Amino acid sequence: MAKTFTQFVCGECGGITHSWMGKCPFCGKFNTLVEESAAPAETKKEKKRDAPAKAKPLSEITYERYDRTSSGISEFDNVLGGGIVAGSLILIGGDPGIGKSTLLTQIAAHLSEESKTLYFSAEESCSQVKLRAERLNLSPDKLLIINETCIDDLEDELDGVRFCVIDSIQAVYTDDLSSSSGSVGQVRECATKLMRIAKSRGITFFIVGHVTKEGALAGPKVLEHIMDTVLYFEGENRENFRILRAVKNRFGNVQEVGVFEMTGEGIIPVTDYSGVFLSESRGEEAGSAVTPSQTGARCMNVEIQTLVCKTNFGQPRRMSLGVDYNKLALLLAVLEKRCGMNFSAYDVYINAMGGIKLNEPACDLAICAALASAYTGKPIDKYTAVFGEVGLTGEVRAVSYCEKRVAECVKMGFRKILLPAKNMKSAAKYADKIAIVPVLYVNTMIKNLFND
Ligand SMILES: Nc1ncnc2c1ncn2[C@@H]1O[C@H](COP(=O)(O)OP(=O)(O)OP(=O)(O)O)[C@@H](O)[C@H]1O
Ligand SMILES: [Mg+2]
Repeated sequence: MAKTFTQFVCGECGGITHSWMGKCPFCGKFNTLVEESAAPAETKKEKKRDAPAKAKPLSEITYERYDRTSSGISEFDNVLGGGIVAGSLILIGGDPGIGKSTLLTQIAAHLSEESKTLYFSAEESCSQVKLRAERLNLSPDKLLIINETCIDDLEDELDGVRFCVIDSIQAVYTDDLSSSSGSVGQVRECATKLMRIAKSRGITFFIVGHVTKEGALAGPKVLEHIMDTVLYFEGENRENFRILRAVKNRFGNVQEVGVFEMTGEGIIPVTDYSGVFLSESRGEEAGSAVTPSQTGARCMNVEIQTLVCKTNFGQPRRMSLGVDYNKLALLLAVLEKRCGMNFSAYDVYINAMGGIKLNEPACDLAICAALASAYTGKPIDKYTAVFGEVGLTGEVRAVSYCEKRVAECVKMGFRKILLPAKNMKSAAKYADKIAIVPVLYVNTMIKNLFND
């Protein structure tokens, strides 16, 4: 077999060079050359092609049922869409120290009881992993562990293995490329190798991925394309709550989130999440509003906090955490134009409690309510919730899952709920349990909230 060699391919124009250059000699773009391994042209010709595939009607296609295994952590199974699918590639990204290795040690320990499981630790020594397992009160006697960084050695160890943890993809390398581990080429090549193994041998891989300063997964975008499931492990390091979010899932809903608590004994799923995203002191100060938010299959009451203060600069500052920045700008414009609130001389800060991300339109009305409360200095009652989508004309539009949202508020002991007038019909059956106020426009909501 002819030896493979490496070449550098430009990510922009596809130009090929034999040595690395800062500037692509073909298109002139900087820092676009990535190392790739390539087989000589003759070997490509020598390689026999399999018989070409034949087109057939969809009705003749037989499919295998996805065989799902439980990870032992209910919240993790939910995020995956009901369990681990055999032969899938699951990428878990997250900030340093957020608990990726802890979560995967717990899962691997559980899986090793029933099936052969391998922990490929490229970042930590075997004794570090054992120490962690002992701290977590786990005794995974059958869990196989290897401290290696070269992925080429992995294949020999995989005999009979059903689950394999790679910690992490940025720390492993393949001998086919000369660049150092963590480089774009290495990450792509290693991920492709893992995909080939996973699909041909039916082994499930849990792969840890580092994130960049901006919070995206480090490495090439193709890494996310190769994976079957991409999960982000998020949360404030100072707070104990962690949220596992699916951003891509070939076997389930991407809206699903899992809520966990980080404790000394490891990561514990939080099943009673009501109240996790609410503060006890809400209702005392102006600027906070509660909304029942639907994420995946569950509905959670989330508090939105805002701060509006006089700007010291020519350009007022807008900062948002957990709420889309553009959404904030849009709703500020609606409040300014339709409700006469002038935010141009104020800095505006907004935060969704507990590190959750609110990206559904049904949260619009609560963002407006929190902003109006901060602007007027009048607090919103602790047991009042708000939901609805806000249009550019200031009208409040109907949203989905109305009944579920109202039911969650009733369950949490809320006394009043403001919702889109068009959703009134589906909420009517709760009228004896909670005061329901239908709203047509943002300014009518503001009038109702602050009794103006
Ligand atoms: N002895 C301990 N007692 C309690 N909690 C601990 C202890 N040691 C570590 N932790 C917790 O575990 C967290 C580290 O978890 P872990 O190593 O799983 O993170 P990680 O995401 O894998 O990090 P990295 O990116 O560095 O690999 C720490 O932030 C800390 O909260
Ligand atoms: Mg780790």
